Formats: sequence, structure tokens, C-alpha cells
Amino acid sequence: MIFTVAIDGPAAAGKGTISRAVAERFGFAHLDTGSLYRAVGVMGGDPVAAARGLTPDDLARDDLRSLVAGQAASRVAVIPEVRAALLEFQRRFARREGGAVLDGRDIGTVICPEAEVKLYVTASPEVRAHRRWLEVGGDEAMVLAEVRERDARDMGRADAPLRAAADAVLIDTSELGIEEAVRAACAVVAERLG
Ligand code: CDP
Repeated sequence: MIFTVAIDGPAAAGKGTISRAVAERFGFAHLDTGSLYRAVGVMGGDPVAAARGLTPDDLARDDLRSLVAGQAASRVAVIPEVRAALLEFQRRFARREGGAVLDGRDIGTVICPEAEVKLYVTASPEVRAHRRWLEVGGDEAMVLAEVRERDARDMGRADAPLRAAADAVLIDTSELGIEEAVRAACAVVAERLG
């Protein structure tokens, strides 16, 4: 069975948690596409060459979740040649046998417009910054500034900007706990599976 769940949305909206839970519940493979851009961002040197030569080891680095890696990711993510180098791998993953969940910014709009389920997961910048701050610590106001800066860059870029696909189901997690958000996402997938 080919079945793709595309989950897009801004930083720290809960995409990762929801994606992992949906993948586990339905037995689908999961790809966190942000980790590809994070890995390219932290590698230094020529980002296009880094994207073309990305290996599984690069994705296993333990510094990919830092704020610095997130910022580096969104800077290399504006480069069309970087996006192009990562496209085929993501497309193949999306249409693999057995079902796939991909989370990112452009999965429902560019990587897999034919996805059987498209979710757009969002929350207010303050709620998202608070969640990210619980994860990384430091100064919460700085984390909020980082979230806003990255949102602006991701939504404002010319190539594959962050936006909800016209046929995406919106899940606002501002006032939802993890369990409720996961339940809402699973309900959409279950209904589409029939
Ligand atoms: O976990 P969080 O939502 O903070 O970020 P992420 O999903 O790991 O993505 C990090 C950065 O990579 C984003 O801010 C985007 O600039 C970029 N990205 C992208 O351009 N396209 C994707 N499909 C996934 C991530």
C-alpha cells in the first residue's frame, strides 16, 4: 500500500511528536525532513555539496536539535540547489511501500502534493517558543525571537515557502495537549484509510 501523511507547520508546533505517534499507530515509516536541513546547516563549507553528499552518519549527529542548528537549517533551506538535492530522497520516501509520514515545511505543497493526508500543525508563536524553551533552556525571550525570525524566513522565501496546502486539515495545538493533538491527527488518517 502507498499512503503518505504530509505534516507541515512552523517551528515547535508539535509536528515531530504528532508524526512519530501517527507513524507508530499505523505502522508507517517516519521521516523528519527538518533533520536533513539541520545536518546540511551544521556541516559548514559549501551547503550545496553538503546536501548532495549527505550520509546517514550526518543525520545521526547529536547536535542537530540545538537552536544554532535550527537557524543554520533555515539559512541553507532558502537555497534552491540545496532543496533540489534533497527532493528525490524525500519523494521516494513518501511513496515507499507500506505507508510514510513526513514532517516539514513543504511536504504537502512540493514534495508530495498527491499525499493521501495533509495536516498543517500550528500554534501561537508564544506557545511554540515556550515549548522549545522547555526543550533547550536559556532565555525564553531569545527563544521567542529565534522562533519568529525562523518563521519569517521560512514563510518569506521564494522557493517552497512554508504555507498550508489548500486541501490540508488545520490542527492548532495552542490549547491542545499532546494526547488530544495526536488523537485529532490519527482521526483524520483513520477516516482517510477507511
Ligand atoms: O523542529 P522544528 O520545527 O523547529 O524545525 P525542523 O522541522 O527541524 O526544521 C528546521 C528548518 O529546516 C526549518 O526552519 C526550515 O527552514 C527547514 N526545513 C525546510 O525548509 N523544509 C522542510 N521540509 C523541513 C525543514
